[in-house]
Amino acid sequence: ETLVVAIDGPSGSGKSTVARRVAAALGLRYLDTGAMYRAVTWWALEQGVDLADTERVAALAREIPLRMGQDPRAPAVAVAGTDIAAAIRTSRISAAVSAVATNLGVRAELVSRQQAVAREGGVVIEGRDITTVVAPDAPVRVLLTAHEDVRLARRAREVHGSDDADAVDATRDQVVRRDADDSTVASFHQAADGVDVVDSSLLSLDETVDAVLGLVEK
Ligand code: CDP
Repeated sequence: ETLVVAIDGPSGSGKSTVARRVAAALGLRYLDTGAMYRAVTWWALEQGVDLADTERVAALAREIPLRMGQDPRAPAVAVAGTDIAAAIRTSRISAAVSAVATNLGVRAELVSRQQAVAREGGVVIEGRDITTVVAPDAPVRVLLTAHEDVRLARRAREVHGSDDADAVDATRDQVVRRDADDSTVASFHQAADGVDVVDSSLLSLDETVDAVLGLVEK
């Protein structure tokens, strides 16, 4: 199987869940590129490296013994044999990751690792720059979007277990700031030429997965 499915989308668009479901349905591997930026952030903080020291952080990205498990039903993230799948989801990492993701030396290294996976084929790759930079030639390229209110409510349920007004407000602060910080590198919300847009605002998870699978058959 050589198919590559590239999926981009902002926070709360549901791209991780959808990408995993699509990979499982098609018998493909799964790569979460956001988890790679989170892993480098975790590793740098673990080593006490100042994230503003771009040279050192880029060097860490080149050296990190990072293993991305690619089973869509149990995606694993390990650094030097330590499972960090949960550790990279903490708010400490979410707050720091943009500083690492805007480091061009880090991006060069991680994009090259991601492109090596894309070349092997048989994979769903998910992130912010997959349809444009990592796999612009992928036969299936999707931008998954959702209205901001919907994204914030989903994110609030994920992080705070509730979508009441307080939880949504707390989430808004984090998500809006991270989107703004990320946008210095690229516009993650605009579909590039030839990229299909799937708006999940009014769709259930199953319907969203079916919409993406429909693009694969097309
Ligand atoms: O938590 P959320 O789903 O919003 O993000 P993620 O997919 O875990 O990605 C975390 C961060 O990594 C993003 O905020 C971006 O700063 C960065 N990222 C990136 O720059 N390029 C990618 N291909 C994927 C993620």
